[in-house]
Amino acid sequence: MVPLMARAQANFVCQSCGTVSSKWSGKCEACGGWNTIVEEGARLPAGAGSRKPARGRAFALEDLKTEDDAPPRRIMGLPEFDRVCGGGLVPGSALLVGGDPGVGKSTLILQALAAYARLGGHAVYISGEEAMAQVRLRAARMGLGDAPVALGSATGVEDILATLEQGKPPGIVAIDSIQTIWTSALEAAPGTIAQVRTASFDLVRYAKASGAAIILVGHVTKDGQIAGPKAVEHLVDAVLYFEGERGHHFRVLRAVKNRFGPTDEIGVFEMTGLGLAEVPNPSALFLGDRSSVSPGAAVFAGLEGTRPLLVEVQALVAAAGYGTPRRAVVGWDSGRLAMILAVLEARAGLGVSGNDVYLNIAGGLKVGEPAADVAAAAALISSFAGRSLPRDCVYFGEISLAGDVRAAPQAELRLKEAVKLGFTRAIVPAGTNADVKGLVLESVKDVGELAVLVAGEAQTMSQRGRVRS
Ligand code: TYD
Ligand code: MG
Repeated sequence: MVPLMARAQANFVCQSCGTVSSKWSGKCEACGGWNTIVEEGARLPAGAGSRKPARGRAFALEDLKTEDDAPPRRIMGLPEFDRVCGGGLVPGSALLVGGDPGVGKSTLILQALAAYARLGGHAVYISGEEAMAQVRLRAARMGLGDAPVALGSATGVEDILATLEQGKPPGIVAIDSIQTIWTSALEAAPGTIAQVRTASFDLVRYAKASGAAIILVGHVTKDGQIAGPKAVEHLVDAVLYFEGERGHHFRVLRAVKNRFGPTDEIGVFEMTGLGLAEVPNPSALFLGDRSSVSPGAAVFAGLEGTRPLLVEVQALVAAAGYGTPRRAVVGWDSGRLAMILAVLEARAGLGVSGNDVYLNIAGGLKVGEPAADVAAAAALISSFAGRSLPRDCVYFGEISLAGDVRAAPQAELRLKEAVKLGFTRAIVPAGTNADVKGLVLESVKDVGELAVLVAGEAQTMSQRGRVRS
């Protein structure tokens, strides 16, 4: 019988996609990346030297049945964060918080730990990036200096585990960041996929064994992956992204994976001079001041997880200078814009193929919901026709390639939020039956009807000589 692993074998691992190969090459065959392959030492095999593979120990198999129906939660005392996690952290679980460098991950984690510690929990913060003095300064600036958080500065996973295992067992442990943590069991440099994966695995195993909830902070690379660990995402129970546009104060914490709660849930924060402030009513914030409305602005009655959220969609259709017309999108999907423009052109006679088109979601929010189609289309038609939309109207609905306006889920929830913020009209997909006091509903069944409604009459557009059909 051939032993499976006779010696520690060097692996060549692509740092961008994680593919392992047996020899080095300049280009990764799997993802096509250049100069991404790095030699990484494998973990020393347990039975190295002995020829016999270790014999397994049998373990008992059990029922699916459980006495307690929901996992107990550890409330952190930062309500927006708790809600995104599904109502607090689950003991023994691991959570990955990813985000661009500088977005405010360390600030968020420190605030969460301080809140938890102030509620009487035992919170441990291990910083691998910042010195203790830096963390203390930041805490003092945010007014958290007196919170009983246990602080440590370390990068070796063995040291961290040894520290955690002695003394009072922690309720929550945060590791900031996972890219700085390394294990001496591997020869690879810190930050490589192998190190990040192995260190995360050890930390997650500690969480499961000890019942502590562990928060791993991870930086996202340029192309939007959590550096190294896509490899970590499957190890942890929940993955949260902390997002925010540069130049905006708003930060959105978004659950993209959660084994114990809903995904698509968001928490909204504002970055202030004193750390992050929670925003319990984000619609008012994202809408801002709408006292004067110019053509091209439409309010989308959106939904983020279980929470309704109104945002302004802004469009600008302008005469193209020369060459290929420009298309630029901020906060929305550019493929989606191309599709809406094509549908408007084919089904509503809106000929913009020669124009520059810009689309922006106000406030630095990213919108992924298909129900934003109608608001985007309304904004585009409004800008094209040079007519402002009524200030007190909201829009939602998905647009199909055939130009039909499709229903969107949770219409009533969206409309109630609109009423709360003083809106009195809503353009909704045909067949929406929501009974919301104080709101006049106008239903549209396709983009043609929408264009007529938005531009006043189709004539407006043909007078401008741009209608194709
Ligand atoms: P940080 O939490 O260090 O980001 P990350 O850990 O994601 O890299 O936050 C860094 C930014 O936040 C920095 O540009 C300054 C800003 N900030 C404030 O505006 N106010 C504050 O109170 C703090 C602590 C940071
Ligand atoms: Mg940081």
